[in-house]
Amino acid sequence: MLEDIERIIISKQEIKSKVKELGKTISKDYQNRNLLLVSILKGSVVFLADLIREINVPLSIDFICASSYGKDAFSSGKIQILKDLDVDVKGYDILIVEDILDSGNTLRYIIEMLQKRNPNSIKLCTLMNKSKQNGNKIKCDYEGFKIPNEFVVGYGLDYNEKYRNLSFIGILKPQIFENSKYIRSDFL
Ligand code: IMP
Ligand code: MG
Repeated sequence: MLEDIERIIISKQEIKSKVKELGKTISKDYQNRNLLLVSILKGSVVFLADLIREINVPLSIDFICASSYGKDAFSSGKIQILKDLDVDVKGYDILIVEDILDSGNTLRYIIEMLQKRNPNSIKLCTLMNKSKQNGNKIKCDYEGFKIPNEFVVGYGLDYNEKYRNLSFIGILKPQIFENSKYIRSDFL
């Protein structure tokens, strides 16, 4: 697996200290609130698992699974909810936890959907943001790293369902893409 990586762009240590910092800020902001972390499957589970252990106020977690890409390189813009939340979000302060913000299509759809369910508030926490290049215009309340417009894997993020278990964020060698039929996985 490691031999497929061209270079590491965010190390395990950098991720660790950033997650700690985000957890500290979130803990301060959500005192005496009714915090519900909504993790977007599957990419954000590793981030969620680490982040909740850096937050020291009471919280609940729930999951949404959405697919936004077909077997093409580009976002189709069509979002499908494959798994919805279990909880009724009324009265909750929702913090959406995302691995990476790219076109923003997935999140725009999910935010709109959750707003209609009348929670107390909705904010967004993303580990990485590619937004500058893609102009997704989604406001991130908590943001880990701004990254260049490159396809990254590791720490939850996959390429064809692989590499999620890497403890760093890296870029794949070009021949990995060339040998593969698909550019992106179906399930994010
Ligand atoms: P968006 O709808 O274009 O913002 O896509 C966001 C989703 O696409 C993220 O939650 C990721 O699951 C996936 N994604 C976007 N960029 C990458 C990447 O560089 N590596 C792995 N997955 C990515
Ligand atoms: Mg995702």
